[in-house]
Amino acid sequence: MHNIRIEDKLSNFGTTIFTVMSSLAQKHNAINLSQGFPDFQPDPHLIEIAQKYMDSPFQQYAPMPGTADLRETITEIVQNCYNRKINPDTEITITAGATQAIYTAIAAFVQSGDEVILFEPAYDCYAPAIIVNGGIPVYCELQYPDFKINWDEVRSKVSPKTKMIIINTPHNPTGAVLSAADMLHLIEIIKNTNILILSDEVYEHIIFDNLQHESVLRFDELFERSIMVSSFGKTIHTTGWKIGYLIAPEKIMSVLRKVHQFLIFAVNHPLQKTIAEYLKNPQHYLSLKTFYQKKRDFFISRIQNPFLKIFPSKGTYFVLLDYSTISTKKDTEFAIELVEKHKLASIPMSVFYHQKKDYHLLRFCFAKKEETLLQAVEILNQLNPS
Ligand SMILES: Cc1ncc(COP(=O)(O)O)c(C=O)c1O
Repeated sequence: MHNIRIEDKLSNFGTTIFTVMSSLAQKHNAINLSQGFPDFQPDPHLIEIAQKYMDSPFQQYAPMPGTADLRETITEIVQNCYNRKINPDTEITITAGATQAIYTAIAAFVQSGDEVILFEPAYDCYAPAIIVNGGIPVYCELQYPDFKINWDEVRSKVSPKTKMIIINTPHNPTGAVLSAADMLHLIEIIKNTNILILSDEVYEHIIFDNLQHESVLRFDELFERSIMVSSFGKTIHTTGWKIGYLIAPEKIMSVLRKVHQFLIFAVNHPLQKTIAEYLKNPQHYLSLKTFYQKKRDFFISRIQNPFLKIFPSKGTYFVLLDYSTISTKKDTEFAIELVEKHKLASIPMSVFYHQKKDYHLLRFCFAKKEETLLQAVEILNQLNPS
């Protein structure tokens, strides 16, 4: 029998930490603040609308770019939030979550040997998508402890091979946000190049302390070369529905759609109809920042452990805690100890660095019911260096 040789294009990547920590949390019956999803139900009105569409004729393939009504609703969101007029027919495509949107964008444009600049700590799906498509990830490091971009470093890493720069604001896992000044630096760096921007904005509506979300859609010089990605999972508390979208100018979108049609063709039809109807009411996304700011403040104000340092979270539903006064263990080891011994699951931040840089930080998701957050706080407040 021939012993077939299997080559793994992603041999450096294993099971994602989110799966690992969530199953550890389950095994140890722990409070799970690891993976980023709410532990509360979405709005009952949203579920009512979904039930209506489950019992409708819309049970077959949706149109390839997404339903017309959902694309129309997205144009309203973009108009309300960023004052930009988007063409729903040519500039929006509905995807199976932001993950598929990001993969589609990278697969559509990154060719063998192309360089893609990304910032670490980085959400985990960017680098594998670059590598599987033959590209080369070029890492810039967000500067500890504010996790701001060092634009001089970016400038020095741009080369004739740079095809794309991936940004993410508000940023997972740090909760940092890009400012208007950051966007101007970006504009200056890409001027007179053919570099595309992939902008992961899945937390666009979850930004705190009266800060403004600086979408690429606000800037003409960025919009013309950008692919904006968002996800309804974050906006309407339905991460399990896996519906997101891509926005880009027609010239870019026509290329994205070629990949989209062969990757997935179309996504869940009745749920697209549901979201289109539900988000006609802008309150459902405009109220999100207040909703999550309350949760953030509820959580961090109750952490009263002098041995834990809380990092500011300006957006997303994550907060970082520094445990270095309590333990010198690696963050991956400390996260496992926390779940096994103390029954609290988090995500160690080093997993977001390709070289596993360890600042003794753990990421906690506060998209949880108050009772869950209180249980987590009780555990956190008892941790000490002994
Ligand atoms: C920064 C970031 N991008 C993309 C995604 C993926 O979104 P989706 O679940 O819609 O695929 C997530 C999910 O946690 C995320 O945090």
